[in-house]
Amino acid sequence: MIEIMNANTELGKKDYYIDSSYSLTIDASDLFVLPAMIDPHVHFRNPGQADKETWSSASKAALFGGITTVFDMPNNIPSCTTKHRLMDKKRIIDEELSRNKIAFRYHLYFGVTAKNIHSISSVKDDIIGLKVFMGSSTGDLLIADDATLEKVFATAKKYNLIIAIHAEDEQYIREKKKLLRSSDPEVHSLIRDPTCALIALRKALYFACMYQTTLYVLHVSTPEEVEEILEAKKKHPRLYIEATPHHLFLNSTYYKKHHTKVVVNPPLRSPERQQRLLQYFTQGCIDALGTDHAPHSLEDKQKPYPNTAAGLPGVESALPLLLNAWNEGTISLKRIIDVTSRNICKIFSLPLQEDLVLIDPRKTKVVRKMYSKAGFSPYEGKKLTGWPVMTICRGVPFMT
Ligand code: NCD
Ligand code: ZN
Repeated sequence: MIEIMNANTELGKKDYYIDSSYSLTIDASDLFVLPAMIDPHVHFRNPGQADKETWSSASKAALFGGITTVFDMPNNIPSCTTKHRLMDKKRIIDEELSRNKIAFRYHLYFGVTAKNIHSISSVKDDIIGLKVFMGSSTGDLLIADDATLEKVFATAKKYNLIIAIHAEDEQYIREKKKLLRSSDPEVHSLIRDPTCALIALRKALYFACMYQTTLYVLHVSTPEEVEEILEAKKKHPRLYIEATPHHLFLNSTYYKKHHTKVVVNPPLRSPERQQRLLQYFTQGCIDALGTDHAPHSLEDKQKPYPNTAAGLPGVESALPLLLNAWNEGTISLKRIIDVTSRNICKIFSLPLQEDLVLIDPRKTKVVRKMYSKAGFSPYEGKKLTGWPVMTICRGVPFMT
């Protein structure tokens, strides 16, 4: 039995009682209790890349950051694109979590390509949604032709599945790459510019509206995309917007300090666009926060551009970044709960979050990598106020 006494919730003072095999009483009078975070966008790398991350390192990193549930992406090695690989992946994860006695929750995305649309029916009950890469990123998943894309939207509708879309246009990327050959990582933001995202997004919205498919737009990085989706939502309400911590809290000026290490897809945007995106976020126009936790080794992050590995870690720092913004008066606690748990349960038809995170709203700490194997974090050394002190998953406490 865990008994949490006198904790503050956003609704006022309330006690929480959770069944578990542990016996623990916590006086939480100086703490807040929030629903634990659900992270709908992570790349925990296994099977295939245990050197970059394992489910043990990643789940502890997530719990440290107040996250008890993740939706993992299919760009593994090999990619998760068959029923057999999906079942294998589940077995590998379950075995690793149970061997290390880690209480954690996860759901898996299925990667769609031109070759496996027929197998969607066989996995539909085992997945959280379909992942479609319209532009290439880490891994070998890609759908770059309209006919295949249309078929995926029609099939998803048929089986009532959500499509999570990586909206960057492959053709546009290839053309721009030819024009902008440089080893300066800043050209990454010029190749995959806001138009690159907008072209792909418009296509995805067109098919979503045509087939009335539920569409979850991953890592929306510009205010223009938000505006486009809000407009389309008037015709088809089941369109949802995700933003990442790095597009909300970092911008293209960070290349000066971190060079290739902040290369990510979609790329960091101008400070002006970042501010407008953050405004939409704090106003409630963005449905979910997804960390897009995409760890790479330092060696891969430091490879000269364009051979740099794209992706940034995110699970350990996301909640502290949000709580720090709350301390600065930028965002309300209610909004934080909406984008990290409540909205995600609604969008993905999950039962309401029963796991909890206890936070110390006034604790100030410098960000340091704790459990993730990522070789680099752009937030390391940043001083933030508002930290998780205990995350409780399935009644099991994880002290941070
Ligand atoms: C992700 C990765 O490394 O898996 N990288 C990234 O830059 N975001 C893939 C992705 O989500 O595009
Ligand atoms: Zn992506």
